[in-house]
Amino acid sequence: MEKTIDQKVQGNALNITPKKNNTRKLFIESYGCAMNFSDSEIVASILSEQGFNTTQVLEEADLVLVNTCSIRDKAEQTVRKRLEKYNAVKRDINPKMKVGVLGCMAERLKEKFLDEEKIVDMVVGPDAYKDLPNLLAEVEAGNDAVNVILSKEETYGDISPVRLNTNGINALVSITRGCDNMCTFCVVPFTRGRERSRDPKSILEEINNLANTGYKEVTLLGQNVDSYLWYGGGLKKDFKTATEMEKATATSFSQLLDLVALAQPEMRIRFSTSNPQDMTEEVFHVMAKHKNICKHVHLPVQSGSNRILKEMNRQHTVEEYLTLVNKMWEILPEASISQDMIIGFPSETEQDHQDTLALMEEVKFAFGYMYKYSERPGTMAARKFEDDIPEATKKRRLQDVVDQQRKNGAYRTQQFVGKVTEILVEKESKKNPDQWSGRNEQSIVAVFPKGNYKPGDFVQVKINSCTSATLIGEAVV
Ligand code: SAH
Ligand code: F3S
Repeated sequence: MEKTIDQKVQGNALNITPKKNNTRKLFIESYGCAMNFSDSEIVASILSEQGFNTTQVLEEADLVLVNTCSIRDKAEQTVRKRLEKYNAVKRDINPKMKVGVLGCMAERLKEKFLDEEKIVDMVVGPDAYKDLPNLLAEVEAGNDAVNVILSKEETYGDISPVRLNTNGINALVSITRGCDNMCTFCVVPFTRGRERSRDPKSILEEINNLANTGYKEVTLLGQNVDSYLWYGGGLKKDFKTATEMEKATATSFSQLLDLVALAQPEMRIRFSTSNPQDMTEEVFHVMAKHKNICKHVHLPVQSGSNRILKEMNRQHTVEEYLTLVNKMWEILPEASISQDMIIGFPSETEQDHQDTLALMEEVKFAFGYMYKYSERPGTMAARKFEDDIPEATKKRRLQDVVDQQRKNGAYRTQQFVGKVTEILVEKESKKNPDQWSGRNEQSIVAVFPKGNYKPGDFVQVKINSCTSATLIGEAVV
């Protein structure tokens, strides 16, 4: 098994409060990033108006949708395998079943999907979900249906998501869509289109509704949350060329964060993902101002080599990254930081690799997600560079980086031993049914004996020991 620690989960979804009169069954499965999981909730909401409730039983589904990820080749292969499985079910058990592909692979492969995968009836890109009722009608009329048009406006701000597989405690709220950054390795700007920000009013409304239904924590989501800028809709504008009126009425990410934290002071607020080039000091000040904004920043750096960062078109140097991180610790001494790394980018030398390890040693990230470089067709890196690092070298370097992270993670968790930290109880511990599992505001997982506590409680937990990624403790009564 590859030693990548992977934040990206997968799962099929069930809505907890199905509509009584709905008779059709939707099986929806999501792969990839949190944004895909959030999008599936939007899709479930649109389809619930079309008579669909979700099911977790594939064999009984009238419609199967798979929300796909293109970020690495491996992610695409996983989806292909699932399509084989749907094919078998359709052939042997449920011939009337219809199958649709959503998300980034749909956008990347477009009509080609229909030829490559005969099972697929419908291909729907990330900005076309409102067209699902029409596409479904096409499919029911016996035609293939494709909509992969990317939008300059769509944020789904007017759709109230159906919460899928929810624990009723943590929710995802998307605030931007798309990405304008064009990192050379990344397929996202091609599959999710240009960057758009969502109306702060609709964001606040969604969060207020979540609070009213008992949710305790929201994560504001975007490919690059720090570049959130609301001008009244449409594509992101350059602040420098905006009119005085626009400047006076615009909402930046730090302002949005401030508004959200003020609106729901009892709720924990998180956000992801931050990009070093767009993160401002102002955000740290807003985090410091509000007790309920979790003191954790997911700040992917990808490499510790300036030469590689340049080839990746990341718009900052290692030194600038460190300046930003040190600024954060000046303002927020208790904050934690986590990373994403790409190992074996074209032309990466042993020295570049050592530079990555050195940066990790310096920052001591609390946790991180580490990937071998995977060439994505159509990206600038695929066009300009040869994928020239041998697989065995990538594997070895990945192992070095994972080992380094484990060591740094252990250093960070060790800092909590002997201290009391507040945990929001999320679920039962996988390893021990007598224990709860939750996270502290630094986003570090903790487990402790259940006692009389229940999911959704904020509990003061005294930490007695730790592993490199988990705190082990007991509730302080
Ligand atoms: N800003 C985004 C980043 C999207 S991709 C976010 O919200 O998370 C998530 C991570 O996948 C990136 O930070 C990068 O580390 C990794 N990644 C992206 N493209 C990749 C590729 N071609 N090969 C390997 N890893 C990649
Ligand atoms: Fe991808 Fe870079 Fe945007 S990693 S999502 S192009 S910030």
